[in-house]
Amino acid sequence: MRDIPFVDPYLDDRELQAVTDVMNSRFLVEGKYSREFERKFAEFTGTKHAITCNNGTSALHLAIESLDLPPGSEVITTPFTFIATSNSILFGGLIPKFVDVDSDTWNLDPTLIESAITEKTKAIMPVHIFGLAADMKHMKEIAERHDLFLIEDAAQGFGAQIDGKHVGGFGDVATFSLYATKNLISGEGGVLTTNNDEIAEKLDSLKNHGRTREGGYKHVRVGFNYRMTDLQGAVASVQMDKAEEILSRRKLNAQLYRDVVDGIDNINYQHVPKGYDHGNYIFAIDTRATKKKPTEAVAEFKKNGVLARPIYDKLSYQQENFKNIGSWRWAKVIEYPDYNSINCPVAEEISRNHFEIPVVPSLTHEERERVSEVIRKVFI
Ligand SMILES: Cc1ncc(COP(=O)(O)O)c(C=O)c1O
Repeated sequence: MRDIPFVDPYLDDRELQAVTDVMNSRFLVEGKYSREFERKFAEFTGTKHAITCNNGTSALHLAIESLDLPPGSEVITTPFTFIATSNSILFGGLIPKFVDVDSDTWNLDPTLIESAITEKTKAIMPVHIFGLAADMKHMKEIAERHDLFLIEDAAQGFGAQIDGKHVGGFGDVATFSLYATKNLISGEGGVLTTNNDEIAEKLDSLKNHGRTREGGYKHVRVGFNYRMTDLQGAVASVQMDKAEEILSRRKLNAQLYRDVVDGIDNINYQHVPKGYDHGNYIFAIDTRATKKKPTEAVAEFKKNGVLARPIYDKLSYQQENFKNIGSWRWAKVIEYPDYNSINCPVAEEISRNHFEIPVVPSLTHEERERVSEVIRKVFI
């Protein structure tokens, strides 16, 4: 009987065959498979363009670069996320402006955004945290009213929908990660989506040393090498064929856990608003109403063969990189706020009071039931 893992890539002979084909073709760099993956991804998400890159952090950097914002512009974002979200704003020469999250969905709270907007604000960057779409309709309205760009950090959001529409097409540009733990994987990898032709053209160019789509040695802007390899493209393309299967297996696990948690008074989970489909990247248990600390619960889960783990128990602005932002070279030219004095009380409370349990697609019926039993054992 295996310990139930929180990471278990859903791979089989199909990915192996595709990677072998790439090896045999001797064409290892971005090519046929990456193009095929882009087509499938755009179709699945209902977006006009999908553009691959080498990871989700590069995707965020490219998204920011593609908007040509003046250095020192502010980008409104959530502190309850992986550090890549705010780091990408920083290395784009911009200023992360942290706004608190909603107590039920744990996503950026749109009702707090307008009061955070200043004349320096140029974009809003929500994250679809744990695979639950942020309130994109509300944020789009705000972005349009204040003439701001809307960037979706959909690294965790593959499969998330609002009223049947996939994330990735709500903002000006969206970024996904294909890191090994994600819903759709290529080991390391990233993909951007946009419905804007001009942004798509820039993304293609920026990730390839500022080349045009003709290739060669003409460089029309400063760019990077953030290209994917076709080994990654091959894995990602096969994963697209299994996307519905992967998502429905994750959903089956999460639905069962929600039913179990519904029957227990002192714990909860991320609320899924009406019309929203959770992508179920992470299933987190909310311990705000119990005295049991997440670290204690995690230890008990592990003792019972379920590899639960704490995640984001520190918010982005509580990390050393923000606390010591004054020592970073960009601080010589950009005036950052004092991140030691930021306070997002809801996000702080959630960060101290949650942990994740395994929701990976490989779980068998018996394993799902075992996880459910352990939830009951630890909290009843
Ligand atoms: C919210 C969020 N944004 C960005 C990233 C960065 O993606 P990658 O690890 O592929 O660079 C991640 C990765 O975990 C993430 O969770």
